[in-house]
Order: sequence, then C-alpha cells, then structure tokens
Amino acid sequence: MTKSPVALITGVSRAMGMGYETARQLARQGYHVIITAREPTQAEELAHQLQQEGLAVTAQQLDVCSDDSAAQLAAAVARQAGRLDVLINNAAVMLPAEDPAAPVDLSEAQRRFDANLFGPWRVVQALLPLLRQSPHGRIVNVSSGMGSFADPVWGLTDSKQPTASVYALTKLALNGLTAKLAKDLRADHILVNSVCPGFVATQPDFAEYGARPVPEGAAGIVWAATLPDDGPTGGFFRDGQPLGW
Ligand SMILES: NC(=O)c1ccc[n+]([C@@H]2O[C@H](COP(=O)([O-])OP(=O)(O)OC[C@H]3O[C@@H](n4cnc5c(N)ncnc54)[C@H](OP(=O)(O)O)[C@@H]3O)[C@@H](O)[C@H]2O)c1
Repeated sequence: MTKSPVALITGVSRAMGMGYETARQLARQGYHVIITAREPTQAEELAHQLQQEGLAVTAQQLDVCSDDSAAQLAAAVARQAGRLDVLINNAAVMLPAEDPAAPVDLSEAQRRFDANLFGPWRVVQALLPLLRQSPHGRIVNVSSGMGSFADPVWGLTDSKQPTASVYALTKLALNGLTAKLAKDLRADHILVNSVCPGFVATQPDFAEYGARPVPEGAAGIVWAATLPDDGPTGGFFRDGQPLGW
C-alpha cells in the first residue's frame, strides 16, 4: 500500500486544464496523485511531465460516462495504490456559452448530464469502498457559479453572461448531489464539498476576458481536498469562502 495519502483527479487531458495544476499542487503537498483521462496516453504524458518535476503522479484511464471504465479504475487503484483519500471530480463537458434553454436538443442535454452529474456520481459509487477505508476521506466536486442562484455575475438568474443553460443546470444538480452525499457520508467521516474555481484561464483566449491564472483557481480545489477533519461538508465554496446557491 502507498504510504503517502492518495488523491485521484478526473478529466486531466490538457496541461492548460485545472486538473493538471490541481495535481501539481497536491503532489507538492506530499500526495501521490492519480490523474485520469478518457484517452490514457494523454494522462500518461501529463503524468510523465509532472514526474519530471519530481512529483509522485501516475495515470489511469477513466471515461466518467462508462460503468465498466469506473469499475476498472477502482480495481486498478485498489491493486496498485491500495488506498484512496481524496477524489476530485473535475471532468466535465464544458459550455457552449450561447445555449438558451427553450430550444435545447434534449438528447445533447442528457449527454451533458451524463458527464457532469451522473459522471461524478458514478465515480463516487465506484471508489466509495476505498474512500470509506480512509481516515480522512474527501470528495471535491468541481462546480461553477453558473449553477448558483446567488452568483451576481455568472448565476442562473442574474447572469450578465450568455446563458449556457444546460451546463449551468448540470452544475446546479451537482451542488445538490454534493449536499446529499455529504449527509449520507457524514458517518464515514468523508467531507464532500463543491468548489467553483472562478473564471480561470484554461483556454488560450480566456485571459483577455479577465480570467484568473489557473493556479489561483486550482488552489480553491486543493483547499477543499485538504480540509481538516473538523472542516465543512455539504457546502459550495470559492477560494475557501462559502458561496450562496
Ligand atoms: N475554466 C473555467 O473558467 C471554469 C469555471 C468554473 C468551473 N470550471 C470547471 O472546472 C473543471 C475543469 O475545467 P477546465 O476549464 O480545466 O477545462 P478542461 O481542461 O476542458 O476540463 C474538462 C475535462 O473533462 C474531460 N472530460 C469530458 N468528458 C469526459 C468523460 N466522459 N470522461 C472523462 N473525462 C471527460 C475533458 O477531457 P477530453 O479532453 O477527453 O474532452 C477535460 O479533460 C470543469 O468541471 C469545469 O466545469 C471551469
């Protein structure tokens, strides 16, 4: 069994993405980090880059929409690491920004819900036996202010930005899942929280629209992944501060 605490992050296929920087920050804190992606060679290449920095990062395949893939991942983590302390549900099908609710293609909407809501749910179910064995289990669902009624800039009703309705609704539902899982897993001492990283420069053109540097967004995720045992559960946070939803 790996002696260091083990964290697993979903949806790490790009060096510019939040998952990659989150892996770097957690590994610098002494975690063995397992990064996962649909296309295994992408995760392997990124793990190799972080290993070059002297960090304990390994790769596994995971399609969060596949029961078989989630089951195979759980078996591989049990076999190779023998433990799991932190799960970060980072994978998501992103926007598009222009996506009004009324005319939406519902089969496409279902596909997005499968990745953004049922994906994290599926991965939690697959990895729960391992997380339950950890004395300090943590689950972080990477969400968005777009799924909040309270966010004045990005929120469901007050948004000054384009609607992105399906994406926003998947994150609203994800926050609800966070609340339910937190309640269910309280007896297992697993803290479950949602985190909005803010508007983060994970695409080349985002910075010119005011996006913050990726390390700042990732820091809020790492905060929730490394909460002390008496930390909050069932909440929604940005930069370690509660967000209304
Ligand atoms: N960037 C922002 O401003 C911002 C703001 C608020 C919240 N967020 C959240 O932050 C998280 C990371 O976003 P990001 O900006 O870093 O973008 P990103 O790099 O595109 O992250 C999304 C990841 O999800 C993966 N993914 C999609 N469907 C998947 C599936 N079925 N199975 C496994 N992986 C899958 C993508 O992999 P493929 O390459 O295979 O598609 C990609 O690696 C997301 O949850 C997003 O909603 C981002």
